[in-house]
Amino acid sequence: MSLKDKNILLGVCGGIAAYKIPTLIRLLKERDANVRVLMTQAATRFVTELTLSTLSQEPVWKDIFPDSVSAKEDWTRHISMGEWADVYVIAPATANTIAKLAAGMCDDMLTASFITLRPDKPNLIFPAMDGEMFASPSVQRNLAWLSRNGCTVINPESGELASGKCGTGRMPEPETIAATIETAVTENLRRSKLQGKSLVITAGPTREKIDDVRFISNYSSGKMGFALAAAAVKRGAGVTLIAGPVHLPTPNGVDRIDVESTEEMNRAAKERYRSCDIFIGAAAVADYRPANHVAGKIKKNSNTMEIILVRNPDVLAGFSKQKKTHQLAVGFSLETAGNLDNAREKLEQKELDLVAYNTFDGITSGFEVDTNILTLIDKHSNVHELPLLSKNEAAEQMLDVIEELMSSDK
Ligand SMILES: Cc1cc2nc3c(=O)[nH]c(=O)nc-3n(C[C@H](O)[C@H](O)[C@H](O)COP(=O)(O)O)c2cc1C
Repeated sequence: MSLKDKNILLGVCGGIAAYKIPTLIRLLKERDANVRVLMTQAATRFVTELTLSTLSQEPVWKDIFPDSVSAKEDWTRHISMGEWADVYVIAPATANTIAKLAAGMCDDMLTASFITLRPDKPNLIFPAMDGEMFASPSVQRNLAWLSRNGCTVINPESGELASGKCGTGRMPEPETIAATIETAVTENLRRSKLQGKSLVITAGPTREKIDDVRFISNYSSGKMGFALAAAAVKRGAGVTLIAGPVHLPTPNGVDRIDVESTEEMNRAAKERYRSCDIFIGAAAVADYRPANHVAGKIKKNSNTMEIILVRNPDVLAGFSKQKKTHQLAVGFSLETAGNLDNAREKLEQKELDLVAYNTFDGITSGFEVDTNILTLIDKHSNVHELPLLSKNEAAEQMLDVIEELMSSDK
């Protein structure tokens, strides 16, 4: 078992067992996990922010409100932490914070991130307190409510407590907590239908050469395709990302193939048709290319210039037309105007299983921006309207729909 590249969000509350957290972070880092720590104000009385940020190699977050209004990523950090996490661990969980979680309160980064955690991500709550506190009806009621509502509550151990008394309320040792986290992450991975599946995802624009120094292209940044690739790997899929020219780092665990033109992308895709279970065409491929590629640089000899364009191969339709059995073909339909009918038409014409329709407004959805508003239409005419989401979250929700489709097609 390993936690390599897993994102662990660690919420630390103001209980005496917080003294065990530096050791826990060391153990998680030794297992190559990424760790981000959220602390309550009370937690800072038991263990310092400096210690936890040094060990996790990340800043520690406490307050929802950003220190500066200029740091864009700070505005919505209370939401993005839950998106980032593969697992959310609250240790030690105090009686006070347990009550807040059960009541749905969210007045600090720890509680807000709990509320915004995706439902498919595991969360682990480690209550730790004096024995009488733990046995109190209110704590028991709140823990029971959390257990019934998707939380994994790990009961504390019995033994000597900080008060000097004996009882049930001791937080497990860091080694035990680390092992519990590994089990939770592995089990969650096994639940995904994408576990062990092979995905090919195209992303970014293509460039169609006019001469040796000029080309036809578009504004696609590749962000949506890269977000899908990263999210699919996290669900245990093997992902090949065929990327046009973009300036994005390769997500961990993704096999990336860089191409330039639509024809190159098509060749790379075709080689993988057979071995692939799901093909997602997120690239904004050029529909046409110059009929002739002129060697050198075209000279400025006249006031006008004509370039004859010829049709490029349709990479996505190429896949769906040959798919035989279980394979799924997923496409995007970006429209500057129009309605769902255009997307439905694309779904039918290209024999897709799912199409993601988005309108281009250049501000909240479309190329280059970090957010998207997608409407997903599947081949059974089910429509999923997603709200304005970060491209990472939109990718997660799209994969949820793909997994549903895989179940319904069985
Ligand atoms: C020395 C000391 C130790 C404490 N230990 C615990 C504890 O182990 N568990 C607990 O639930 N509360 C404990 N508390 C009480 C919490 O610190 C208090 O309820 C605080 O408001 C919790 O805030 P938080 O839930 O936002 O972290 C302790 C308080 C003190 C002064």
